[in-house]
Formats: sequence, C-alpha cells, structure tokens
Amino acid sequence: MNDVTFTDKIETSYNPRDISPGSPARKLLYGYWQPIYRSEMLEKGKSKFIDILGQKFTLYRGDSGKAHVISPYCAHRGARLAAGWVEGDLMRCFYHGWAYNGGGQCVEQPAEKGEPTDRSHLKGWPVEEYLGLIFVYLGDGEPPPMYRFEAYHRDGFTQVRESRRTWSYFDQLENSVDEVHFNFVHRKSKFTDVGLNDEIPELSCEETDYGILRLGTRSGRTRKSHILMPNCMYSMVFEHFKGWAEHLSWRVPITYDTHVSFMIECIHKEGEDAEAFLKLRAQHREELKTLEPTDKTIARILAGELHVDDLAWRPDIVVIQDGVAMGGLEPGRNPDLDQLRNSDRQVAMLRRIWKREMAAIAEGRPTRQWRIPPELKPSTGTPIDS
Ligand code: FES
Ligand SMILES: [Fe+2]
Repeated sequence: MNDVTFTDKIETSYNPRDISPGSPARKLLYGYWQPIYRSEMLEKGKSKFIDILGQKFTLYRGDSGKAHVISPYCAHRGARLAAGWVEGDLMRCFYHGWAYNGGGQCVEQPAEKGEPTDRSHLKGWPVEEYLGLIFVYLGDGEPPPMYRFEAYHRDGFTQVRESRRTWSYFDQLENSVDEVHFNFVHRKSKFTDVGLNDEIPELSCEETDYGILRLGTRSGRTRKSHILMPNCMYSMVFEHFKGWAEHLSWRVPITYDTHVSFMIECIHKEGEDAEAFLKLRAQHREELKTLEPTDKTIARILAGELHVDDLAWRPDIVVIQDGVAMGGLEPGRNPDLDQLRNSDRQVAMLRRIWKREMAAIAEGRPTRQWRIPPELKPSTGTPIDS
C-alpha cells in the first residue's frame, strides 16, 4: 500500500486519450469486452450506425433477438448499411441489396449471378449482452471470458444509464479515482449527508489481479472501490432516495476528447421498496425534463454566466459539478506536466499502470492479464461493511 513514488520519471509519452489506429491505448481497450450500447435501445429488426472506440459500426438486432456488430459501410459501393433492412439475422444494404450475416460475410448479391467472393465480405465482431448492455470484443484472437458480477445476480434489480460527454474517457476515469475531489467539486451536494466531503480522506491504493484497490478513510471509516482494468470502476454510489447502491461504470472513448459512460446500478430492494424507488426515480426524471439540459448548464457555468453553487438545488448537481471540473480542463494540455502530489496517489497509480501496459504493447511485450474475481464487492465505508 501507499507505494506510489512521486519522483518517478514519466515512463513513456504514450497518451491513453489517443485511440487512433495502431495506438497502444486502442489495443489495450480492444483486448477486453467493451460496452457499446444499451440493450433496451435496440429492438428486434432494428439497426443503428454507431460511432464508438474510434470507429464506426453497424449494430443490429436480428429477428432471433441476437445483436450483431459488423462494418459500417457496404463492401459493394460504400453505402451506409444501417440505413438498410434487417431480415432474419441478415443486414441488407439499402443501395443494391447485398446481404451480410452477423459475422460480416456477404451471403447474397441479388443482382449478380455468381457467388459472393472474399472481397465482398466485411468484418464482424463477437457480441454479448450482460446486465442490460451490449458488449463487443474488438481485439485479436479469442475474447476473454465475459464479466460476471455475482452481487448483481442476487436480490434487487439493475438500472442502466448512459451519459455522453465532451471530454476524454481517461479524464473521466481519473475523476473516478480521485477521492479528494468530493471535498471541493461536490462540497454542496448529496454527499454532504453521508460524510463524503466533510473531511479530506487518507488515501491508499494497491495494484491487484484486476486493477487497483482504492481506499479512502475518513474518521476511521474506509470506503473501498475498485478500478477494473482497463476502463471500468466498481464502487458504491449514494442517492437520496435509494441509499447506497453498487455501481459499475465503464468510461468508453468515442473520439480523442469525447466519451460515453455506461453505468449499471444494482439496487438491493424488492417488492414495495422497489416500486417506491422506481416511482421516485421516474419523478426525478420528469423533474429533469423541466430543467435546462445539463450540458447547456455546464457550458453556461464555464462561460462565467453562472456559478455552480447557485444550482445546488438541482437534482443533477453532481453531474453538473463533475462536468465543470472536466469540461473546464485546459484544452490541449499535456497531462504529463501535471504536478501530481501525495493526494493524487490513486490517479498516479492509474496513470503508471496504463503507461506500463501501453509501453508493453508498443514494444511487443506481453501485457498483464487482468482477472476479476466473481465475489469482488465495493463498500460504503459504513461501520457495517468496512
Ligand atoms: S452499395 Fe451496398 S449493395 Fe451496393
Ligand atoms: Fe465527482
């Protein structure tokens, strides 16, 4: 524990925000299942053109119910495939009707006499659905085993959300491991009620088989959360009307400086409690619809038209606060020149592990194979489960 050395030279200049073709960060992310879409947003027989992880894709759900991910444009003359038709489990091009299966193979060319040739095929990638998210594996070879979070299979239910933001997934990931920011960014928020921002925490961290174990201790109570390498966080999150809930959040790049966060909460409530929770959440969503959109509010704060403290009453204040922190980062700054201090030890460990793994990829050496134990759980820091 506590072994982060702040005099370490930056080991490499590899930047995890750069996910261009051939970049080490892209290869690292592509080596693991990545969420790309919410299951409930893709009906049977529908197709979507999606932009994520530095590429475009065609995502469609066949009549069998299975989701497929194939290349974005038709091999014939480049039409956008998602504009076509899903037939059975095939995707038929809108332009001249070539049809592809979920593996990207062209199986029909209606206006031609011969069979499709190898050059007619597209790429297709392995797809799995889990806990309400569609995951894709974009790497080489066999995909690793699909995630399995035992706690999510017991009592209660799950809720899936996504949030698209105009800053890098890696800045968001760093924010996730930054326990001190609660005391400033969220000084006026729901976290006040649960003591997350009234005392600067003592921090420690440790590299594990799955990534990083993070501890933040306040008044002898330790909050425990986990970074699941390369880009997922498993923690306990507090909401007024639901209390503490387990929270998985994947920070997935779209481009260099935009990302989408996919979040799955596991809410340990059943029966009437669960109904009451869902009612409150629905009210919360209705209330949000009556307010200025979160992104617009963040932009107005960054433009100096408002101060974030004037909006502490908003139900989405925590998102706004984080948005002001990350949306306001200096454009084009070199994070390697940041002045990391003792309280940044968890951020430093995340950066160091990422740089080590990116260097291994760039130099053709093996990377660490991260494994998540099925019984991994975060804790709130309450005396009961610390
Ligand atoms: S462009 Fe797709 S069939 Fe012609
Ligand atoms: Fe935050």
